[in-house]
Amino acid sequence: MRIFLADITATRKLGITLAQSLNAGNVILLEGDLGAGKTTLVQGIGEGLGITDPIVSPTFTLINEYTQGRLPLYHLDLYRLESNQVPALNLETYWEGIEVTPGIVAIEWAERMPYKPDSYLSVRLSYGDEKTRQMEITPHNCVLSEEIVTRRM
Ligand SMILES: Nc1ncnc2c1ncn2[C@@H]1O[C@H](COP(=O)(O)OP(=O)(O)OP(=O)(O)O)[C@@H](O)[C@H]1O
Ligand SMILES: [Mg+2]
Repeated sequence: MRIFLADITATRKLGITLAQSLNAGNVILLEGDLGAGKTTLVQGIGEGLGITDPIVSPTFTLINEYTQGRLPLYHLDLYRLESNQVPALNLETYWEGIEVTPGIVAIEWAERMPYKPDSYLSVRLSYGDEKTRQMEITPHNCVLSEEIVTRRM
């Protein structure tokens, strides 16, 4: 499904809407160029989960964890890694929720992942002009929530 994002507020709001329907263990794999809006969308998701700490890009920290919301949010960014470095991170720990409290896993630069979870939401963001973005959201072995499918554009 393609969604037009008129400005940064639209992207944040979409994240908030998306957050309402997320359950523990859900994974969102984000792809798109530098500045396409991946972190902005995750900030909306964080807001929708009720996280009040500022959500900042994990480009340098690799992972930021937020535990104050309805569900924990694990926000990762693989930008600085090569595909062959990713397996050592044992990312499945996050979506299996065995060694960590089950929560939402949002991964930027998911194109760097040599393997994917069994089910996930794929989000591809691309540039329109300075203010606008396009989002292609595709569920893999899961369904898109009614809120996302029926939202007015
Ligand atoms: N419609 C829009 N949605 C999201 N961001 C927008 C939009 N229009 C303009 N922007 C701007 O684009 C930038 C998006 O930055 P953001 O950090 O979210 O991108 P990113 O995809 O996470 O980049 P990176 O690959 O560096 O992590 C911000 O500066 C934001 O203000
Ligand atoms: Mg980012």
